[in-house]
Amino acid sequence: MDGETASLERLALNALPCPVVVVNASGILIYLNNTSERELGVKKEEVISRSLIESLYGGGKFDHRGRYSSALIETLETGREFSLRPEEIRTALDVLPKVFLVDTSILRDQERRVVGACAIYHNFLRDRRLLKATVMNRLTTVSEQFETIYAFAEAIGARDQYTMGHSEKVAEYARLIAEALGLSEKEVDLAYICGIVHDVGKIGVPENVLNKPGALTEEEFEQITRHPEKGATILSHISWLEHVVPVVLAHHERYDGRGYPRGLRGEEIPLLSRILAVADAFDAMTSDRSYRKALPVPVAISELKRHAGGQFDPRVVEAFMHILGAYQGGKED
Ligand SMILES: [Fe+2]
Repeated sequence: MDGETASLERLALNALPCPVVVVNASGILIYLNNTSERELGVKKEEVISRSLIESLYGGGKFDHRGRYSSALIETLETGREFSLRPEEIRTALDVLPKVFLVDTSILRDQERRVVGACAIYHNFLRDRRLLKATVMNRLTTVSEQFETIYAFAEAIGARDQYTMGHSEKVAEYARLIAEALGLSEKEVDLAYICGIVHDVGKIGVPENVLNKPGALTEEEFEQITRHPEKGATILSHISWLEHVVPVVLAHHERYDGRGYPRGLRGEEIPLLSRILAVADAFDAMTSDRSYRKALPVPVAISELKRHAGGQFDPRVVEAFMHILGAYQGGKED
C-alpha cells in the first residue's frame, strides 16, 4: 500500500461519525479513530498500547451474567463476528452508560492467522428512530438496560389501563421539553428514561384503586400518593438508574409547595421532576380516564397556563407551549 492510500484510509476512518476501534491478538488497543475520543470518552494517547478491557470496561472482561462485556474481545477470543450487538460502555463523560450497537470483524493475515479484531460502534440513543423501531418491533437488539425499563412500563401498563402507552408519551414530551430548555444531551436522555419509569411505583397500588371509576376514599388516595416513594425504592436497586431516583421521587411535587411526598417548592424540586409534572399532567388531561373522557388539547393547554406559577414551573410550561405552538390558537380562560 502506498503512502497516499494509507493517509486517505486514515482520513476516511477519522471522518466516520462512529467510533472505530482495532485491537491486536492480545486485546491491546492498536487504533482508535478521532470520533472514539468524543463518543467513548477516552484520550488516544492514554489508551493506545493498553488493554481494551482495562481502558473501556474497568477491567471487567465478563458482565454479571458471565457474558463478555466487549463484543470485540468476544470476537477475538471465539472467532464469532457480530452485527449490531447491543453493548453498554461506562464512559468518563456520561451519567448513564452509553448504549452502542456494535459490528465486529476478525482480522487475519495471509496465513489465516488471527492478528486482531476491529469494531464499529453505533450510538443507540442518538438515533431515536432506531430506538423506537427496535422497541416497537421487540427485536433482540434492545439493550439489557432498555429491556429493564420497558419491562417496568409493561408491568404497570398491564394493570392500569390508563398507564398503557402513557409512560411513552410522557417520556416523549419530557424529552422535547428538556431539549427546548436547552439541557445537555445526557439530561435530555435522562428525561426520556424518567418518563418511561416515573409511575413504576404504581405496581404497589391495588388494581381496583388504580382503575376506580368514582371518587377515591381518603385511604385509597393515600395509597396512590405513596407511588413516587415506592417507585424510587424499586429503582434504587438498579445502580445505573441512580440519577433517575430523585426525579421519580419528586414527580408529584408542585411548584407552589402543595405537592407530595415532601412538599418541596420551586427550585427545590429537581428540574426534571418539574418537567415530568407538566408532561404527565398534559397526557393525563388529553387521555381517556376511567372516570372521564379526554379533554380537548386547547382546554388542556389553558389548564397548564392557568396553573403556571402555581402547580407548575412557569418556565417549563412556557417551553412546552413553544413545542405545542401549533395549538396556541386554543381557548384561553
Ligand atoms: Fe405519578
